[in-house]
Amino acid sequence: MSNSSFSRRDFVHGAIASATLALAEPAVYGKMKLPTPASSPVIITTWEPNIPANRVAAALLERGGRALDAIEQGVRLTEADPNDTSVGYGGLPDREGIVTLDASVMDEFGNVGSVAALEGIMHPVSVARRVMEKTPHVMLVGKGALDFALANGFKRENLLTPNAKAEWSKWKKQQKPLVLPHVSKDNHDTIGMLALDKNGNLSGACSTSGWAFKLHGRVGDSPIIGAGLYVDNEVGAVTSSGLGEIVIKSVGSFLVTELMRSGKTPQQACELAIERIAKKNTHYKELQVGFVALGKNGDIGAFSLTKDFTVALYRNGEHTTFKAEYYAKS
Ligand code: GLY
Repeated sequence: MSNSSFSRRDFVHGAIASATLALAEPAVYGKMKLPTPASSPVIITTWEPNIPANRVAAALLERGGRALDAIEQGVRLTEADPNDTSVGYGGLPDREGIVTLDASVMDEFGNVGSVAALEGIMHPVSVARRVMEKTPHVMLVGKGALDFALANGFKRENLLTPNAKAEWSKWKKQQKPLVLPHVSKDNHDTIGMLALDKNGNLSGACSTSGWAFKLHGRVGDSPIIGAGLYVDNEVGAVTSSGLGEIVIKSVGSFLVTELMRSGKTPQQACELAIERIAKKNTHYKELQVGFVALGKNGDIGAFSLTKDFTVALYRNGEHTTFKAEYYAKS
C-alpha cells in the first residue's frame, strides 16, 4: 500500500459536505449524495491515497490550465513516490526483479499515447504523452519505449527501491506460483486520473507497475486505450483499476464510455460494465476491478466488483475521498 506522508485523517470520508453546495437534483453515488451538474474543474482519480496528485492537478486547473497538463502533472507526483508500491518508482517488480511500467494518456481531441513494459524511466506518463505528441504512433513497448524515452531527454534510473527489492526477495523465497493479486485500499494499484478543465475539455491518464511479481513482459490494461483509459470529449472519460486482464477482455473503459453515450449516467454506466464483468467471470468475488467515470457535465461515477475500491475527488472546489459502492455484496 501507499505510505504517502499525507494524513488520511485530513480527508473527508463518506459524506461530502454537500450542504455547503448549491444543490440541484442530487445524484446518488453509493451512499453519498452530490449535486449535479458540478462546476468545472472536476478531477476524479482511482484510490484515496491519490489526493495529493489531485491537489497538484487542481491547482493547475484552477489557474485555467488544460486538463491534459493537469492529469500529467498529477500522475507524475504518484509516479515519483517511493512509498507507492504499485506505480512508478517504488513499484513492485516482476518475477525477475525488474520494475516494468505501463502508462497512457488521452486528450480532448482523441489523441492517444501509451507505453508498456517500460524499464528505468520514472515518469511513463510523460513518455506516453511524448509518444502522443511527437510520433505518428500510439504505443511503444519495452526496449523501443526505453530508447525513445532516452532519445527524448528522459533519464534512466534504478526504480527498484530497497523496500520493493525486499518484498521481491521475500516472494522469491516463498516460491509461490503466480496467484491473482488481491487489490484493495491497502494494496491498490493503478492511478487513473480524469479531469474536466474550465474550458469544458476532458483528458485522462493512467500509470502503473502492474501485477506484482508478474511474468516478465506482462502488460495490463493501463496502456491499452479503451481498456484502462478512454476519453471522448463529447461524452465523458473513464479509467480503471484492478485486474487488468479482465478489463482488457471487456474493453472496460470504452464500454463505460459507450454506455454514457447511450444516455446512462456515469454511475449507471460504471455499474452496468461491472455487472457485465461479474456475469462473465464466475470467480468475480475473488477479483477486483473498479471504474471511475467523468461526464462532460461534471457528473461522476465509481463502482467496483468487490469492496474497498476508493476514489479521490476534486469537485466544486473541494477535495474529498469516498469508498465506491460494489457489486459482490454477498
Ligand atoms: N490495472 C493495472 C494492471 O492490471 O496492470
